[in-house]
Amino acid sequence: MDSVLQNDSVGQFKKRVFSGVQPSGGLTLGNYLGAIKRFVQMQDDDYETIYCVVDLHAITVWQNPKVLRQNTRELAAFFIASGLDPSKSTLFTQSAVPEHAQLGWVFNCVARMGWMQRMTQFKDKAGKNAQNASLGLFGYPALMAADILAYHATHVPVGDDQKQHLELTRDIAIKFNHDYEVNFFPVTEPVIGGPAARVMSLRDGTKKMSKSDPSDLSRINMTDDADMIANKIRKAKTDQHALPSEPEGLEGRAEAQNLVSIYAALADESIESVLRDVGGRQFSDFKPMLVERATEVLSPISNKMNLIMKDIPELDKILDNGASKAKSIAEPILQKTFDIIGMR
Ligand code: TYM
Repeated sequence: MDSVLQNDSVGQFKKRVFSGVQPSGGLTLGNYLGAIKRFVQMQDDDYETIYCVVDLHAITVWQNPKVLRQNTRELAAFFIASGLDPSKSTLFTQSAVPEHAQLGWVFNCVARMGWMQRMTQFKDKAGKNAQNASLGLFGYPALMAADILAYHATHVPVGDDQKQHLELTRDIAIKFNHDYEVNFFPVTEPVIGGPAARVMSLRDGTKKMSKSDPSDLSRINMTDDADMIANKIRKAKTDQHALPSEPEGLEGRAEAQNLVSIYAALADESIESVLRDVGGRQFSDFKPMLVERATEVLSPISNKMNLIMKDIPELDKILDNGASKAKSIAEPILQKTFDIIGMR
């Protein structure tokens, strides 16, 4: 163990949160409840919070440049509209801080092929045509580890689908520390939980709600208006039983579980307390309650987002400031990494 590094200021791991979202368009209620809403909550806890629009990740699949630029700003506007406060949290775009890509390269050399080949998200995204997927899509989790570890982040709030990538981030940190006999990178804690860790499709409660589902009725998009939200919830798949009064009664009822979980996350309540109120009711009673909750929460966010998008120079200023704050943390960590691995 290298005692100099352990005593070094960048080797002291303060409570620091990092997370990111891809600007690949089509933000869903899953992204909001599983991730962004929790980013906002964490900025008021005892953490330093850093949030990133991960545009380098988005181009692992081809993006129209004009649309990517628009989606990047819209996602940043969405963060702010959801309550992310640029005076409390650092908000920036990944490509503006080159340390991500530089540390990503180092981690490409730490991560093993076998680890990457086990990534289920690569298998899902590449599908049957894996030979035609980009090398970036395959190496993506090493860049994700770099996003996190460039800040020595200790806590990463994400939805359940990112769990395997966070385990890989831990493996990379452990292997790096072991190979170079240092205690330099923290072994990050995933922060996954709450009723919305995995928001499911409205058409099939066993499938994740995702922007890539061919049916638009399967998801609530953050750009849907009140009528669209009402229509989708009205058409959401259910079963023919009444709602139970206790969580055990949701077992084996994926669609009921999903709708109750969404309601609980929107209302900031536990599933237990929601069921205490609605137990015994039919879906025909419950769905209008869910529509009301969803529009109550989502409409002000989309209105605010539209307002923020009217002042692009101001939004760009926020992102530029965020990038310089982010760089001031990541740069010394990258320099120390280079030093550890023997770059002159
Ligand atoms: P992305 O852009 O696909 O999704 C952003 C966040 O939304 C969560 N999420 C969901 N949560 C609950 N239910 C759902 N149906 C649902 N769908 C999406 C995701 O878990 C994620 O937290 N690789 C990441 C982006 C990333 C990142 C990072 C995250 C890049 N670098 C570093 C954390 C730290 C991704 O593609 O997320």
